[in-house]
Amino acid sequence: MIKGFIFDLDGVITDTAELHYEAWKKLSDGMGWHFDRELNEKLRGISRMDSIKVIMDHNHVILTDDAVVELATKKNDLYVDSLESMTPEDYLPGARELLTHLRQEGFLVALGSASKNAIKVLQQLNAMHYFDVIGDGNSVAKSKPAPDIFLYASEKLKLQPSNCVVFEDAEKGIDAAIAGGFHSVGIGPKERVGHAELRFNTMKEATYFEVRSFFSDFF
Ligand code: G6P
Ligand code: MG
Repeated sequence: MIKGFIFDLDGVITDTAELHYEAWKKLSDGMGWHFDRELNEKLRGISRMDSIKVIMDHNHVILTDDAVVELATKKNDLYVDSLESMTPEDYLPGARELLTHLRQEGFLVALGSASKNAIKVLQQLNAMHYFDVIGDGNSVAKSKPAPDIFLYASEKLKLQPSNCVVFEDAEKGIDAAIAGGFHSVGIGPKERVGHAELRFNTMKEATYFEVRSFFSDFF
């Protein structure tokens, strides 16, 4: 039986990818590093520290741990400043409708995000009230593709993974859901999330009706 839903944040509920891109780009430009949208795509779903390592590897840069933390903090300051401009108008189309519908139907809902800024983003969107449990980048040590964040969320919801559906836009996020034994819904192209049980190109198509029809054996 499906009793709960666990949502990734960035790329599922709202599109912060552009804001992350701008902050990493500014940092990289200042350092004389190459950074473009293709490289930004590789950062989808992974933690801040893993992200800076990907960028440094790409640029063949080696720095001390302290220097890496300092640069990641600098990027985060830029990113957090940019979140001030986010408003309740910034849900991805369809996301608010799905969250509202799931609550109306009495399902438990959790967040399962790698971001340490998840609460700030949810507050900017005025979305805190949709969630029974918030799992974010501060909740677990191992980030996606490890299933830990989703296991944290399901445990807090007091549900088994097989009773939960995970919504994810990242390849590594779907890997994490599968590794944890969760049902999975991918948001995005086949090349990225084609390994999910069910896939939609955008959240707009991910209506309660469609999700329920697909998982009808489990309701
Ligand atoms: C999400 C995004 C990633 C980001 C990560 C950490 O998973 O998809 O691109 O790197 O969160 O975000 P943070 O806000 O903690 O830097
Ligand atoms: Mg995401």
